[in-house]
Amino acid sequence: QRKIPKETGWDHSIELLREGYYFILNRTGKFDSRVVLTRILGAKTICMVGKKEAELFYDTDKFYREEAAPTSAQKTILGQGGVQGLDGEEHRHRKAMFMSLMTKEALNEIQQLTKEEWQSYINKETDEVEIYEAAKVVLTRIALRWTGVPYKEEEVQYWASNLSPLFEYASKIGPKNIKSRWSRQKLESKLEDLIQKVRKERINVDRSRAFYQFSMHKDLNGELLDQHIAAVELLNLIRPLVAIAVYINFTFLGWFEHPEQVKAIKNGELNSEQFIQEVRRYYPFFPFVVARVRKDFTWNNYIFKKDTVTFLDLYGTNHDPEIWDEPDEFKPTRFNGWEGTPFDFIPQGGGEFDIGHRCAGEWITIKILKTTLEYFINEVTFEFPDQEPEYQMNDIPPKPKVIIKMKG
Ligand code: HEM
Repeated sequence: QRKIPKETGWDHSIELLREGYYFILNRTGKFDSRVVLTRILGAKTICMVGKKEAELFYDTDKFYREEAAPTSAQKTILGQGGVQGLDGEEHRHRKAMFMSLMTKEALNEIQQLTKEEWQSYINKETDEVEIYEAAKVVLTRIALRWTGVPYKEEEVQYWASNLSPLFEYASKIGPKNIKSRWSRQKLESKLEDLIQKVRKERINVDRSRAFYQFSMHKDLNGELLDQHIAAVELLNLIRPLVAIAVYINFTFLGWFEHPEQVKAIKNGELNSEQFIQEVRRYYPFFPFVVARVRKDFTWNNYIFKKDTVTFLDLYGTNHDPEIWDEPDEFKPTRFNGWEGTPFDFIPQGGGEFDIGHRCAGEWITIKILKTTLEYFINEVTFEFPDQEPEYQMNDIPPKPKVIIKMKG
């Protein structure tokens, strides 16, 4: 038995802000250990990277989620009382509410909505389009339509501009963080009001959609969800759907930086899904996930102490040379015949969907990205004007400005 290698010093939160996606890799590299101990927000924090470590992290006998995420994340990106902070039976029951939406029919509908919304957006454009900004609007419409949240046409911009701060500013400090909190409060109270109306049958909505389903969902004790929690869970669908804009933006950056790969798709030599998977592996988005040690245990001779906050590095695992050949190269062909496990390719978390905390929206994300890429390859005539899109590895999530120019 040995102690986990420990970084000295009072607190390393400032370094986390400064080093961003490299924070954990910098430390596992420095100590030559895949598990290291540091201090974040005043608390001892274990950082881990790798496939075996992911398997450990997702073992619910060893880790729990209650009160694992910092309050600042709950007030911005996550919301309070949502599925992310639940454990055991309660988590399974709530997660089933999400997974019941992820049917084959739903994926087909998402594909259809994605085509329709891009088409109506692009048809109005004759000049330049800033991809990230366009994608946020398109995805807001997809999210509102698919979830069945009642909205008026003139409200789309309001939704779009309040949804994006939830994920764009969650990791920021100062005024941006405050804006993120305000946006959450505004959207939660708007949704709570709508939930109340549907419960009192004052408005009619499509009963097959998430908005109605979540509004009427009963928890394990057979009671309707607290209306605030129902609003938080609806935002757990709508917010990440709009956040797919980050990946759409990177899809175009990948296209701009590696046009030969898109040519290969056009020639039938490369599958568009392989390109999309490489976008999700290569580019940085969700940096790490957080849990706490359930009880004292020893793993690989390291001692894990009960309740210690633990980070699993998603970015680092997706760039781990033990898993990936030339991890820092953009090579979509690596996914040709790729046989992964639930623990090695983890841009949206690892483990199982139903019993664990793996992202409920991973299939939807892949469907929207693939449909968007194919739509632009097959149906839009555009070029990339001269530009040098840049991003920093401590901007979470990065949003390089990528512009396309319509032709014809
Ligand atoms: C959980 C990433 C899109 C719904 C997560 C987690 C990550 C993640 C890292 C946490 C995994 C963990 O705690 O172990 C992403 C990324 C997305 C995305 C990068 C791309 C934009 C979506 C979409 C939806 C969604 C489109 C819904 C339509 C959820 C839900 C959870 C979750 C409900 C909580 C699952 C649980 O705690 O059991 N996501 N996600 N996500 N995601 Fe996503």
